[in-house]
Amino acid sequence: MPDLVFDRPKHILSAGQFDRPFLDYIYELTNTIRKYDKSKDGLQYLQSLLTHRRAMLYFTQPSTRTFMSFQAACHILGMKPSEIRDSSTSSERKGESIEDSLRTFASYVDLIIMRSPVAGLSDRMACLLDETPRPVPIINAGSGPDEHPTQSILDIYTLQRSFKSASAIENKTICMVGDLKRGRTIRSLSRLLTNYPGVKLLFVSPPEFKIEDDLRQFLLKSKISFDETTNFLDAIGTADAIYMTRVQDEYDLGLGDSKRVDTSKYALKYQHLPLLKQECVIMHPLPRRSELDPAIDIDPRAKYWRQERNGMWTRVALITILMGVDQHIVLPRL
Ligand code: NCD
Repeated sequence: MPDLVFDRPKHILSAGQFDRPFLDYIYELTNTIRKYDKSKDGLQYLQSLLTHRRAMLYFTQPSTRTFMSFQAACHILGMKPSEIRDSSTSSERKGESIEDSLRTFASYVDLIIMRSPVAGLSDRMACLLDETPRPVPIINAGSGPDEHPTQSILDIYTLQRSFKSASAIENKTICMVGDLKRGRTIRSLSRLLTNYPGVKLLFVSPPEFKIEDDLRQFLLKSKISFDETTNFLDAIGTADAIYMTRVQDEYDLGLGDSKRVDTSKYALKYQHLPLLKQECVIMHPLPRRSELDPAIDIDPRAKYWRQERNGMWTRVALITILMGVDQHIVLPRL
C-alpha cells in the first residue's frame, strides 16, 4: 500500500475532512481489499484483522444499503456489530439524553456508526466522546439533510472505477439531478468533487429544490465551476456522469409540501438514453422512485448497482483506517 500521506482521521463526520491524498489512498486500499475477496484465504485474513473489536450500528432513520453494507463490512473484518434501529427500543424512550446514550454505547464498543435525522448530531457526539475516557471513533452514516460522507466516498470510488483512473475525474462534467436542497448525498459529493481540478458541476432541479446557499458559497470559495439549471434535457446531453436523486419528502415542513412541486421533468427515462454521451456514467445513491426508470438497468452505463456494492468495500477500507489496521493490507501476501 502507499504510505499514509495524511493524518489518520479520528472520526468520519463530514466530506469536508477529506483531501485528494486521502481519496486516492482509499481508492487504492479498496482495490487491494477487493483482491482479498477473490479467495477463501484472503477473506479469512481480512476476518482476522478486527476479531478483537466491536461496533455499534445506531440507526434511528430508515436505511437499507448503508446499514447492510456497514454490517457486512464489520463481518468482513471479523468485527461484531450490535444494533439499535429505533430509539423507542432504547432508554431514550425513558427520557435518557442522546449524550448519555452515546456514552453508554462507548462503554461497550470500539466504534459507533450512526445515522440520525438531526443535522450535525454526529459532530456533537464526537466532541462529547473526545472529552471522555473512552473516546471511540464515530462514523456519520447520514445526518439529516446535511451530510453523508461515506456515501460520497463510495460515489467518488465508483466514478474513478468507471472513468478507469483517479485523474480521469478531472475536467469532467458531473450533472446532479433532483432534490438538491435536502439531498445530503449531493451536498457531500459536491464537496468532495472540489478536490478534482477542472470538474464542472451542473445542478439540475426544479426551482423549489435548488442547492442551499451554504453549499453555493462553499463552491464559489473553492473556485470549482458550477451552474444551476432547470433544463434537464439540455444538461444530460453534456454530462460525463449523471447523479440522479429522489425527492426527500421526509423533510417536508408541511404535510405534502413536496407534492406541490412538479418533478416530472426531472426523471431519467429509457427513451433519454440516446441523448447521453457514449461513456456517460449513470448513478443514483438509491432508493429510487420514478426519477430513474428501471428499464435503464440493463444499459452498460448504469452503475448504481455496482455503486451500492462499492459501498461495502469502501466502508471496509474506511473502518480499517479508523481502527488502524489498514497498513496490514498489503499485497502480495496471499
Ligand atoms: C441516501 C440517503 O440515505 O441519504 N441513501 C443511501 O444512503 N444510499 C439517499 C436517499 O435516501 O435518497
